[in-house]
Amino acid sequence: MKKLLTKNTLLLACALCCCLGCSQRQPRHIIGVSQCSEDVWREKQNAELRLSSYFQNGVQLKFAAAYDSDERQIEQIDSLVNSGIDLLIVAPNQVQTITPAIDRAYDKGIPVIVFERKNNSRKYTAFMSADNYEMGRQMGEYIVTRLKGEGRVLELTGLKGSSPAIERHKGFLEAVQDAPGIHVVASLQGDWTEETAYNTTRQWLANHPDTHIDLVFGANDRTAMGARRAFEEVFRNTYTRFSQKGDGLPLYCGIDGLPGKAGGIRLVRDSILDASYIYPTYGDRLLQLAVDILDGKDFQKEILMQSAIVTRDNANVLLMQADEIMQQEARLDQLHAKADSYLQELGTQRTITWLACGITVLLVIVGVLFYLYYIGKIKMRRERVVSTLWNLTPETEAPAAPITTPEAEEAAAPATTADTPKAETTDGETESAASAATSIFIARFKEVVESRMENSELSVEDLAADMNLSRVQLYRKVKSITGSTPVELLRTARLNRAYRLLLTTDRSVSEIAYQVGFTAPSYFTKCFKEEYGMLPGEVRNQ
Ligand code: FRU
Repeated sequence: MKKLLTKNTLLLACALCCCLGCSQRQPRHIIGVSQCSEDVWREKQNAELRLSSYFQNGVQLKFAAAYDSDERQIEQIDSLVNSGIDLLIVAPNQVQTITPAIDRAYDKGIPVIVFERKNNSRKYTAFMSADNYEMGRQMGEYIVTRLKGEGRVLELTGLKGSSPAIERHKGFLEAVQDAPGIHVVASLQGDWTEETAYNTTRQWLANHPDTHIDLVFGANDRTAMGARRAFEEVFRNTYTRFSQKGDGLPLYCGIDGLPGKAGGIRLVRDSILDASYIYPTYGDRLLQLAVDILDGKDFQKEILMQSAIVTRDNANVLLMQADEIMQQEARLDQLHAKADSYLQELGTQRTITWLACGITVLLVIVGVLFYLYYIGKIKMRRERVVSTLWNLTPETEAPAAPITTPEAEEAAAPATTADTPKAETTDGETESAASAATSIFIARFKEVVESRMENSELSVEDLAADMNLSRVQLYRKVKSITGSTPVELLRTARLNRAYRLLLTTDRSVSEIAYQVGFTAPSYFTKCFKEEYGMLPGEVRNQ
C-alpha cells in the first residue's frame, strides 16, 4: 500500500510539473543578430529591433556584438547558428573575412539578411542598406560647394576591408575630383572609432607641422569627432597654422547623423560638425523583413534605404523630429517594461495557483488513499473476527472445512474463541483485553444462534433477550464488531450449517432448508447461491 501511495504521489507530481512546464510559451521565431561593433549606432538599431519584436508574435532575438573583431564575429555567428536560430541578421565587420561564416550559416539552410555592410558571396537571402557610395558622393559634392570650389581636405576613412568604408571613399573621391580647386591632402586609414581617428590625426599633424587643412571628412561622425579633438589640441598651441579660412580651425564633416544628445544632428545644429549624413538604422524594417522571410511572405531581395544630408539649414527641424521619435520609442519601451512586469506577476500568480491546486489535489488523493487503506484494513479485521469466530472460512475454503459433528463444533468453538484474540492482538495489552471481551461476546452470540437457529420464528429480540441485551444494544454491538447485522449473521450461520448437512446427510434440500430455520426452500436456495456461488444441489453432487 505504501508503495502504491508513493507511486501515485510521484505520478501526480510529474503530471503537475508537466502542466506547469507546458504553460511556458515557446518562441515562434528565434532571430540571431550578429553586430560587427558595439557603439551608439548599433545600440540604436538593436533597440529598434527589440522594440519592433514586441509587436510581432513570439519573436525572440539573440544579440551578439563582435567589437570590431573578425575572429570574434566568426565565432559568434557559428555559435548563434549552432544554438538553433531560425534566421541570421548580420553586419559583417569586413567583406572578405566574415563571408565564410555567413556562407556556412546559409548552407545550413538558415535564411540570412546581410545588413548595411556587404559580404563577398551571393549566399544571402536578402540585403538591406543605405547607398554608401551615394552618401560619399553627395558629401563630396557638399564639401566642394561648402569650400566654394577651393580648399584643402583631409579624409579619414573607415575600416579598410568594410564595404561602407570602401564605397564612401570611392563616392567622395569621384565627387571632388571634378573640382580642380579641391585638394585631398591625405586619406588616413581609420577603423570607424573615434580613438583611432584621434591618434592617426595627431600622428599626421605631428608629421606635417606646416600643412594647413580647411575641412576634415570623416567616414563617420565619430571619426570626424576624433580628428576634431586632435586638431583642437594642436590648435591650442599654434593658432593659425592649420586653416587659412575662418577662425583658423578646419570644418568637420561626417556620416551617421544620429539623433540624441551626442548624435550628429545635434553636433551639426550646434556647429561642432559642419555636416553629417543620416545613415539610417531602420531596425523596425529590418525585423519586419526577417519576419516576412520566416513567415514565407513575399519580400524584396535587395533593399536600398533612402537617406539625407544634415546641414545647419535642416539640422534643427531634423533634430526636433528625431527627438520626438526617440521619446515615443522610449515611452513604448517603458510601456512594454510595465506590461512585461505585469505579465510576469500574472505568471507567478498563475504558477502559485497551479501549485496550490496541485498540492490540494495531491493531499486529497493521499487522504482518500489512506482512508481507503484503513477502511480496508478495518473491514479485513472484522471479516477475520467474524470468519474465525463463526467458523466461516473464506469463500474459497468454506466448503472444504465444515465442522461435521456437534462434538467437533464444540471443540472448535472454545479453541477459536481463545486463539483469535492472540492472533489479533499485536498492539498491546489494552487491545488484547478488548479483543478478548469481543471474542467472548461473539462466542456467546454464536452459541445462542447455533442453539436456536432451527426455530424459523427466531427474532432479533429473542436473540437479544438471550444475551441479556435490548434489540438495539445487540444490533449496535454486533454490527460494530463484525460489520454485519445479527440477522445477517443468523442467515450466514444457517447457510453454513445447511452446507455441512448437505455434505454429511442424505436429507433433501427442502428438509435441510426447514431444518436450519428457513421458511421457504426457494428463498433458502436463493440465499445459498448468493453465499456460495452455487446451488445446494451442486454441493451435494460434488
Ligand atoms: C557603426 C558604424 C557607423 C558607420 C557604420 C559603417 O558601427 O561604425 O558609425 O556609419 O558602422 O558600417
